[in-house]
Amino acid sequence: MYYQAIDGFYPRAARLRGVFDRRFVNPLDTHRDRFVWDFWHVPEEYTYLRTPAFHYFPKAIYEPFHRYLVRWGRENLGCHDISPPWLSCYIEGCRQQPHRDLPHGPLAFVYSLTPKKRQFTGGETFIRNARTLIAPNFNRLVLFNPSVEHGVRPVRGTIDPREGRLVIHGWFVNPRPFWVGPLLAPEVMGAISTGLRDVALRSQERAFISLRLRISKRGTVSASRVLFHTLSARDHSQIARLLEVAKSLRFPPKRSATMLTLPLLIDP
Ligand SMILES: [Fe+2]
Repeated sequence: MYYQAIDGFYPRAARLRGVFDRRFVNPLDTHRDRFVWDFWHVPEEYTYLRTPAFHYFPKAIYEPFHRYLVRWGRENLGCHDISPPWLSCYIEGCRQQPHRDLPHGPLAFVYSLTPKKRQFTGGETFIRNARTLIAPNFNRLVLFNPSVEHGVRPVRGTIDPREGRLVIHGWFVNPRPFWVGPLLAPEVMGAISTGLRDVALRSQERAFISLRLRISKRGTVSASRVLFHTLSARDHSQIARLLEVAKSLRFPPKRSATMLTLPLLIDP
């Protein structure tokens, strides 16, 4: 998969958006909250307004979102944290030229707070080889491999920040197994390192794959599936092989089953 888009990601998106709208409602206001934006311009690379998301929003509104995102990443990707996210605003002429993010976490995320009714053109995320442009729909979370060339098409048609492309973005980091159930850490880690010892995965670019395994109380893998991966099409054959090996993992018997999220990094 070149990317994954999750629409309607955060139930309280409107609260985050509301903070931004209120800050700009009176252009003559000189409250210090307004003086936080960096106009980031790297010629031929990046042009947009940015500020650390953590400091921009009131704590009571931002922290629940941050926790929600981190928790989602643990449960669904096996990534245990996120880098400090940016809040970025794109108005007329703002863009990101094609680039790769190196070194950063294994997955980039872009979470959009852009108004539902867009007054501009452009502003879509593009990823090399992905056939579609990814529009910054309100409350959409997009994940992609930051090692693959990507960027943002120039925004055209508005210089009003309240009409611009507004996103919170960063990287999921610290991939490591996450599980719910009675298995203990040394039991999980031991079974994985023994069972996957001889699996040599290869990829053109640095890639990521996360598996969800159901481990029965007898210690066998009773269900397995891929949650998300960033392998390119020509490396897909390895997914079936990995699932085959994952099914043969053996864990100690327990009184009940365990659900394991298993992230793996694949180097070229
Ligand atoms: Fe990037």
